[in-house]
Amino acid sequence: MTEQALLSVRDLHTWYELRKWGFFRTGHVRALDGVTFDLRRGDAITIVGESGSGKTTLAKTLLGLVPPTKGEMVFAGERLDGKKKGKALAWLRANVGFVQQDPYGALPPFMTVERILSEPLAVHGVPRREQEARARAVMDEVRLTPQDDFVHKYPHMLSGGQQQRLVIARAIVLEPKLVVADEPVSMLDASVRVEILQLLRRIQKSHDLGVMYITHDLSTVRYFSEYVFVMYAAKIVERAPVHELIRHPLHPYTQALLTAISDPDPENAHIQKEVPPGEPPSLAHPPSGCRFHPRCKHRIAELCSTTEPTTFEPAPGHRVECWLYRQGGEG
Ligand SMILES: Nc1ncnc2c1ncn2[C@@H]1O[C@H](COP(=O)(O)OP(=O)(O)OP(=O)(O)O)[C@@H](O)[C@H]1O
Ligand SMILES: [Mg+2]
Repeated sequence: MTEQALLSVRDLHTWYELRKWGFFRTGHVRALDGVTFDLRRGDAITIVGESGSGKTTLAKTLLGLVPPTKGEMVFAGERLDGKKKGKALAWLRANVGFVQQDPYGALPPFMTVERILSEPLAVHGVPRREQEARARAVMDEVRLTPQDDFVHKYPHMLSGGQQQRLVIARAIVLEPKLVVADEPVSMLDASVRVEILQLLRRIQKSHDLGVMYITHDLSTVRYFSEYVFVMYAAKIVERAPVHELIRHPLHPYTQALLTAISDPDPENAHIQKEVPPGEPPSLAHPPSGCRFHPRCKHRIAELCSTTEPTTFEPAPGHRVECWLYRQGGEG
């Protein structure tokens, strides 16, 4: 683990058991299959990948909602083993905020805004007289203002954007060190998406928060993070600083993702629009070699279909798992 790492994940595997008639084990869905990365204090990273690549499983494993099969996670100096209870679980809940995709589903329907925000404070022993002030302060931070207009409202009385602001307020009310935001804007109107991402970014900067932003939409990363990790079929296949990744995508999968997004930036006008052809692979029976090889138009005969690529670093800080970069690489 690097010295400043807030979160250090090493060779993390999370496999779901497949059972027949709820009894016979018939195999595994390898939803995370050897994921390694560091997140430094105060940094924002984006995890991007198409549906089923294992993004939510990564979030759930970090939050202790799904047990890892193998690997190590160290957060703020504490080992997370996915089996936290009692005080250790309370510590994790206080230090890692969670923002989910569906704000309405994430909010208790019969609680007012004020209760939704003061309950975590009460559970964590914040004196009652401080709860209201703290709840109002976070409402101010997420711009649910004037607060008096919102404190007595129930979630269904709020717009989608306001609901997500409330979810973000709840995620930061205990002043966590890390916020995991799983597709926080994908269910919102396009008009409020950028606004909510900018709000998260502002909060991240002012609180020196670590943020893990999960999305399938590469077009939103430029609003957000310093660093991007691209996931494909349960693995991170490319990682780079945002602008480097957008200007010089290396992995054929990242290139396909980038060309698939509608990009108003004239700098990227030279890129042809196309989507990765074919379907993502089954994670119960992933392809041999490079998992992207069946969909890759640059695949190298024999090599890509038989041998898993190692990590190459063609430019400093830009790492890719693809045999195309083997010359001059480290693997
Ligand atoms: N509880 C579960 N039991 C079995 N398989 C599961 C379970 N949860 C997820 N999976 C499988 O694990 C794989 C990864 O799922 P995950 O939800 O992590 O992907 P994702 O990248 O978040 O996708 P999306 O973009 O659709 O949210 C998928 O193949 C999914 O079907
Ligand atoms: Mg998901």
